Amino acid sequence: MACFFRRRVALQLAEVCGLSEDVFIPLISAVPDSLALFYYSVGCACFCDCLKKGFCSLLQMKRDAVVEEVSAGRGVILFRLNKLILAQKLLEQLRSEPDVFGVKSELLHHLQGGRTLVEFSSPNIAKKFHAGHLRSTIIGNFIANLKKALGKEVIRVNYLGDWGMQFGLLGAGFERFGSQEKLRTQPLEHLFEVYVQVNREAERDESVRSAAAEFFRRLEQNEDQALALWRQFREITVDEYKRIYQRLGVHFDHYSGEAFHHHQTQNVLDVLMSQGLLKTTEKGTAVVDLSEAGDMSSYATLVRSDGTSLYITRDVAAALDRKQRFGFDEMIYVTDKSQTVHFQQLFHILQTMGHQWTERCVHVAFGLVQGMSTRRGEVVFLEDVLEEARSRMLNNMSVLMFIKCVCQDFRGPLMSDYKFDWDKVLQAHGDTGVFLQYTHARLCSLLRRHASETHSCCDVSPLVDSRSVSVLQHLLRYDEVLLQSANELQPRHLVIFLMTLRYRHVSLSLTAARLCLFSAVRSVLANGMRILGITPVEKM
Ligand code: ARG
Repeated sequence: MACFFRRRVALQLAEVCGLSEDVFIPLISAVPDSLALFYYSVGCACFCDCLKKGFCSLLQMKRDAVVEEVSAGRGVILFRLNKLILAQKLLEQLRSEPDVFGVKSELLHHLQGGRTLVEFSSPNIAKKFHAGHLRSTIIGNFIANLKKALGKEVIRVNYLGDWGMQFGLLGAGFERFGSQEKLRTQPLEHLFEVYVQVNREAERDESVRSAAAEFFRRLEQNEDQALALWRQFREITVDEYKRIYQRLGVHFDHYSGEAFHHHQTQNVLDVLMSQGLLKTTEKGTAVVDLSEAGDMSSYATLVRSDGTSLYITRDVAAALDRKQRFGFDEMIYVTDKSQTVHFQQLFHILQTMGHQWTERCVHVAFGLVQGMSTRRGEVVFLEDVLEEARSRMLNNMSVLMFIKCVCQDFRGPLMSDYKFDWDKVLQAHGDTGVFLQYTHARLCSLLRRHASETHSCCDVSPLVDSRSVSVLQHLLRYDEVLLQSANELQPRHLVIFLMTLRYRHVSLSLTAARLCLFSAVRSVLANGMRILGITPVEKM
């Protein structure tokens, strides 16, 4: 409904400047904490000129029912809206179409349509599920939810680290001290245990190292027995992860992995070769020159001297395969920032190969998470994080703690590192995700109790007091906040918006007219929480 008001303001500006209304739409923004909509002139000199000319007439313009007053602020023009109409329009729309509120705004039209592939979480089989994977899971899920809410078709991909020399070690290790029994009962733990042990032994025992190399060679040559064991490790791990993701309310459309694309790397190398992009070095490796001057001052290695492929080789193959298979318009990778150079190189190689669509590939990088350990020690299994939460809190609170974790994670800029702090996560006070959930549940119970008084169309005339209006004004910003989050692929704008919404509305005492307002707040809160990956609960 913000659109309605934005249009009205644009109309006035258009008349004065003799330009089309549409020009102004993206420039009009609801002012936090006030009753005005303002127009900001940043970076558009031509408008400034024409506005300067038309400024006086604008200020003297006849007001209509919607825009009550026009005034000048610092570098901005302020439009004050009629409070009653504001309340009426907003609440009416939130009552009739609560689910599309904000997301169907014309401000967001250009983001609708098309297909987005989001690759996130992507843990490595047998290795640690580190805090970076947890953060990728939460952020990737948010991005996928947001894109979906804005009307895109979204494909969620989990790209498992399921190939590479570590499988040589794992295979050789399992043949020595693996147990099928343990693999069934505690798959992730057992694989990790075998992996740690075999690594230790490989350090001092040459025969273990050669057994590992031999196992990996068998794998690369598609030997049945080796492949069967690998497949078993992979399937068991995926099943286990699916169960845990479900606990978190996260799902994937595709579980792919490095192994799958490993088989396509030869193809990629052939293409690169035919394009004259692959150079063999003296060391026997094959590389792609990424330097501007063509002097190999920067390059990426795609083939080792022993002929095996690398992480980046598989990523090139994976990107090409996905483009062909899913025909995405944009692709988003979510990992910690230690992989920034890797993705720059990946995109560079794809560009060099002539794939224009690489321009719509993005790496969303986030800072490292320090100090996430549980009583069992440093975090290895995602499950431990959930269990720790459960043991530290009342039983039914474990899911909530995860929500808190989500919000702790989401409040700052993604690139900054942060220290994981159980105490903070478990604190019962403050601006955290749990409070969103409490607020939502409290509103639900309030609305349940007063169900009979909530008329289908309520009288909004009592909603012109400054506190109610500040809540309404805040709701008006929802589409802008979604736009900001989508442009930057950063959740914090939405988190802060919801926290503020909660904060604003709790100061309101209950009146009959405010039931409508509370119901509107509840809807927006629930919509926003779902995008963040928090399933709103009705009771706590
Ligand atoms: N498995 C990798 C890791 O744990 C992350 C994969 C990121 N995605 C990619 N396409 N390379 O570090």
